[in-house]
Amino acid sequence: MDDLRWGPWMSTAQARATPNIALIKYWGKRDDQLILPETDSLSVTLDAYPTLTVVSTDETLNTDEFSLNCELRTDDSAIRVSQFLDVVRQLAGTEVRARIDSVSEIPTGAGLASSAAGFAALAVAASHAYDLDLDQRALTRLARRGSGSASRSIIPGLAVWHTGDDQSSFAEPISGPDFRMVVVTLDRGAKAVSSREAMRRTRDTSPYYQGWIESTTHTMSAAVRACHDNDFTRLGELAEMNAIRMHALIESAEPPIRYLSSRSIAVFESVEQLRRDGIECYATADAGQNVVVIVKADDDAAVTARLAEHGQTLSVGSGEGAKLLTSEAER
Ligand code: PMV
Repeated sequence: MDDLRWGPWMSTAQARATPNIALIKYWGKRDDQLILPETDSLSVTLDAYPTLTVVSTDETLNTDEFSLNCELRTDDSAIRVSQFLDVVRQLAGTEVRARIDSVSEIPTGAGLASSAAGFAALAVAASHAYDLDLDQRALTRLARRGSGSASRSIIPGLAVWHTGDDQSSFAEPISGPDFRMVVVTLDRGAKAVSSREAMRRTRDTSPYYQGWIESTTHTMSAAVRACHDNDFTRLGELAEMNAIRMHALIESAEPPIRYLSSRSIAVFESVEQLRRDGIECYATADAGQNVVVIVKADDDAAVTARLAEHGQTLSVGSGEGAKLLTSEAER
């Protein structure tokens, strides 16, 4: 049996991707199936917390087999991975199943974009294992089908993900100011409500939803201008405002959902205090209580030291985007 696995019908590919943190948030879908966002969003891919994924197609399998950190999964995550591979199989015109082995250092479900890194790595590895010849833009569209924010983790550094239809909703690089980020980890546990469910609930119940879409559209245009102008200050101000608005929106759902804890708020307050003290930095948080602070490289050490009282801090830079690993040395 083992010999069969190494037959010509088995193809293996390995890829690596890292999470991204949204500066202007994606919150709300206009198509749940195709994962088309209501608005454009802007993010930066991190150079930390890699996910490594190996995809091996195998004609002897009746179902896909997904393991995360060496544990075979049979829960929702395995269903999502298999549904994503259905999209890949449809593109490849095959029904062959696969074994997927992922290793990740990111605490899953804690608002540190574990799904973004996971589906970006999976998109790259699976498209190669299934022999699809996809350029970067096509890869971002494919990754989007796993988790919207994964489209941006394909891209190095700053990325814009466009709203649109299945063809035009892709992510692409944008140049902008240089900065670093301080990740303040307050909680490594999984969040109580998934971003998928929370987005649905917000759309269906929040009286502020239309206002959020309109304001984010304006904020996004201003953020793109700030990137073109290399304006760190403006970009930081917009990012912090947009994060606070997203969390206010999420809290306005029925029943309400609250991702930020009192400890997260304390980090936002420390960031305000740092600014009053003359150190420029801005806070943001995705769907979880952990906070990411953007900062100029020169102030990185001072900000990291000041925020250490709140939780574990890690200074990170911008990363290179999802990558196919071809040689032993890269693995
Ligand atoms: O891609 P998802 O379904 O994990 O949603 C991500 C949502 C946020 O992280 C909160 C915002 C964003 O733009 O990444």
